[in-house]
Amino acid sequence: MALEDSLRLQGYEVVSAASGEEALELLRWQRFDLLLTDQAMPGLSGIELAETTARIHPDVPIVLLTGHTDVELAKASLQRGASDFVTKPVNIRELPIVIERNLTRRRLEVARLKEREAQVLFEAIKALASAVDAKDPYTARHSMRVTRLSMIVADAIRLSGDEKYVLELSAWMHDVGKIGVPDSILTKPSRLTPEEFEVMKAHAPKGGEIVGQIEELSQVADVIRHHHERLDGQGYPDGLRGEAIPLLSRIILIADSFEAMTSDRSYRRSTGRGHAFAELKKHSGDQFDPELVAAFISRIEALPDA
Ligand SMILES: [Fe+2]
Repeated sequence: MALEDSLRLQGYEVVSAASGEEALELLRWQRFDLLLTDQAMPGLSGIELAETTARIHPDVPIVLLTGHTDVELAKASLQRGASDFVTKPVNIRELPIVIERNLTRRRLEVARLKEREAQVLFEAIKALASAVDAKDPYTARHSMRVTRLSMIVADAIRLSGDEKYVLELSAWMHDVGKIGVPDSILTKPSRLTPEEFEVMKAHAPKGGEIVGQIEELSQVADVIRHHHERLDGQGYPDGLRGEAIPLLSRIILIADSFEAMTSDRSYRRSTGRGHAFAELKKHSGDQFDPELVAAFISRIEALPDA
């Protein structure tokens, strides 16, 4: 009890349980930041409690209180789910240090894990984008270039870090739906027939569907779905107009069009940067967002290699 009170006095919210079984019951229904348990308890021992808790809540750090003669046991507890141990008698002033140490360690572990997950996801996405680009030798590196150009606009209009992250993923994957378009259409050296064009158009919603299967990427899926919408509502797949088109999709459309005009394709050679700028300006307002075109041109003009 003294322990509990002193922790409360130091600002911790404490919920106590009379036995390991009771603690498990509480842990089943409530979220806790940390579990502090004695090893010697009637019924379930501290180690057994730690073991079960670590299984149900792998992210909750567990600190075990053991007798000073139980050092071997305490060490073993680390292999069975405990994150740390304190030998009794407990030094009341030391306990918060142990608690904070374990909370911080766990927070860092979670952050590192998340970062690693995001990295793996990103690598997988890039690999998938390259697979699509590889279907057509003329569009090789297209996704990479569209991403680079999009990020330049993102900086020009000062998008937030979160928005930039979504934009980067979306730009890399904007054409991922082309995986379902037959190579004969994708690499056709002449103009597409209206039927073929319909098949080609399906790549936008298809890409949205593919990416939308990953719950965390629902915003990215939305941006991909709409990357061929035009400001005047004449685009596809949904004929959205103006501000109804996601901002990030409007950015990708500009980067995508510029990239397409300034690189060689199966059906034509590059038309040059000057021509591409003129086209963007000409269609400012009907296809493209005028503010974004202005931001794009002012930045890209200064970068002769972009
Ligand atoms: Fe596209």
